Amino acid sequence: MSATNITEENLTQIVLDRTKTDDPRFQEFMDKFIKHLHAFIRDLEPTEQEWFTAIDFLTRTGQMCDDVRQEYILLSDVTGASMLVDAINHRGLGSATETTVTGPFHAKALEYEMGTMIARGPELERGEQAVVRGKITDDDGNPVEGVRIDVWQSDDIGFYDSQDDKQPDMNLRGIFTTGADGEYWFRTIKPCSYPVPTDGPVGELLRAAGRHPMRPAHIHFMIDAPGYERLITHIFSAGDEYLESDAVFGVKDSLVADYIPNNSEEQAKELGFKTPFFEMNFDFTLKKSS
Ligand code: BEZ
Ligand code: FE
Repeated sequence: MSATNITEENLTQIVLDRTKTDDPRFQEFMDKFIKHLHAFIRDLEPTEQEWFTAIDFLTRTGQMCDDVRQEYILLSDVTGASMLVDAINHRGLGSATETTVTGPFHAKALEYEMGTMIARGPELERGEQAVVRGKITDDDGNPVEGVRIDVWQSDDIGFYDSQDDKQPDMNLRGIFTTGADGEYWFRTIKPCSYPVPTDGPVGELLRAAGRHPMRPAHIHFMIDAPGYERLITHIFSAGDEYLESDAVFGVKDSLVADYIPNNSEEQAKELGFKTPFFEMNFDFTLKKSS
């Protein structure tokens, strides 16, 4: 449609007609973006001041981003958009371990031998010691060798190393590689629930929407093996008060595990721990790449 006389009625079609690309997927993206954006505006009928406030919010969201802070990912997370994209892209997992959000705190980590203690900061003095172990298998139950397991977590008071000058670099992170038995284990301190960053525009949004910023305690895992789909997930701590109201909608029942107290002096000594320490077991099942 060509027109010099733009009206409320013909505007959407004129924008669509004028947006033409040779890339079919980008064309689909633009067509749907324009249609949904215009439909949203027609439905909401914002005032000019309200629209400016929305643009200002997005401007400040971008201005908050740098190499360690990604406010747009956080916006995607708290609106449920990240989990929706995750769900669409991981349909049909069958018996494979479920996925959840990556979040903004994944960073470079050191490669370690199995069993290494990944807590190296002030949390060592305060935290509850834990051993995390399990097995990586394929969906026929066979152990998978050569799996790269990248783990990261907050400390016992809810801070990642990048948020806290008192923690050493690459603290509470590590990369482990399975042997022929597919087993993994490492030592750490129990994570605790924590708020997503609230000192930026996304924090304002949560407050204005009457929502809390808390995430239930969890450890992140990014698991890669040749011939298998990448698995990005968390293991959440059973009993956490925020399991039912995670600020980023990331919880799935199959990803919740108990930290079981162990009072054995002998086992504690072998691990270099005090009693009681905690044991968390979680087995991962990988999906073959298609
Ligand atoms: C996280 O678990 O690290 C996280 C995920 C989404 C938003 C903020 C933090
Ligand atoms: Fe996290």
